[in-house]
Amino acid sequence: MEPIKIKIHSTGKYVPEKKVSNDDLSKWMDTSHEWIYKRTGIVTRHLSEGEDTSDLCIKASRNVLEGRSIDPEDIGLIIVATMTPDGQSPSVASKVQAAIKATNAMAFDLNAACSGFVYALSTAEKMLRHMHLPYALVLGGEVMSKAIDWSDRKTAVLFGDGAGGVLLKKSEEDEQFLTEDLHANGNKGYALTSGEKKVSNPLVDTQEASGFLTMDGREIFNFVTKSIPKSINKVLTDNDTSIEEVDYVLLHQANARIIEIVAKKLGCSIDKFPMNIQTYGNTSAASLPILIDELAKDNKLFIDKKQKIILSAFGGGLTWGTLLLEIN
Ligand code: UT7
Repeated sequence: MEPIKIKIHSTGKYVPEKKVSNDDLSKWMDTSHEWIYKRTGIVTRHLSEGEDTSDLCIKASRNVLEGRSIDPEDIGLIIVATMTPDGQSPSVASKVQAAIKATNAMAFDLNAACSGFVYALSTAEKMLRHMHLPYALVLGGEVMSKAIDWSDRKTAVLFGDGAGGVLLKKSEEDEQFLTEDLHANGNKGYALTSGEKKVSNPLVDTQEASGFLTMDGREIFNFVTKSIPKSINKVLTDNDTSIEEVDYVLLHQANARIIEIVAKKLGCSIDKFPMNIQTYGNTSAASLPILIDELAKDNKLFIDKKQKIILSAFGGGLTWGTLLLEIN
């Protein structure tokens, strides 16, 4: 029997309408456009005016399915990568499942912070191979603005809200998922924390934790600029591919300086590293699917030729990982 192959069938995204500039932020806190742009490359970010993560994910899902004549009942699996779900239950994925009427789909959220989309894509690709229905919907969606301490300028200027996703399909064509390299280092978990909740019950009287996001930016910066080039080189070596054969390296949009350092360490032109951090800021698990959809709509991806692309992300956990795909 022919092995089952998996391909990316369509892409989509949704970001809240409200665009907030660095100058807008400098009215709210002691910061400046110069500092934010020079240190990160960010110019604007979209912030929710009330829409929650499920609202963004539902709209992104509709965009993924738009004009594709897919029967939602043919979707067997929905995974939403998020570290900012509406709540613990129901999952964002369950809300998406109901909204798009994917009545046959199992649905769950996955939290690997900013690496969430890469983790979710890897998980969905493997699960779909063993399912009888032909499609899986994989989303990354975040309302980071509700996790942030707006009095902490070190983190408040970095993040944005948004959602994006892809529809995976079982395929008779060539395999698109070539190699992967996924990791976690829980020993460095303290470098990014969010949503902490202390045990409080009739037996323990605990002071409530703030739950706001905290980040040791320097620690993550140093860690990532070492581990990501290594991870990218690993997938290339494992697949006997050179960086010259790769069309695009799509890196998690956390900081333009990180992307420049990774490009330099890999010895390749920054032109291979498309960026949209200037527009959206760091949207955590949503950053890669938003970038993928923008490139697809710009006719740079999923064109009439085979392309090798790398997806690589890093974030809280700490978690990081890289996928090598050959798409068409
Ligand atoms: O996606 C999740 C994973 N996270 C990341 O990938 C983040 C990785 N880290 C980074 O991108 C960078 O470390 C940051 C952009 C977060 C920070 O850049 P940095 O060059 O590491 O700056 P810093 O935190 O060392 O701060 C430098 C200075 C400090 O002042 P002093 O102590 O030198 O006087 C800060 O108080 O900049 C000050 N500062 C600010 N000034 C104006 C920090 N935030 C701001 C701000 N506006 N928003």
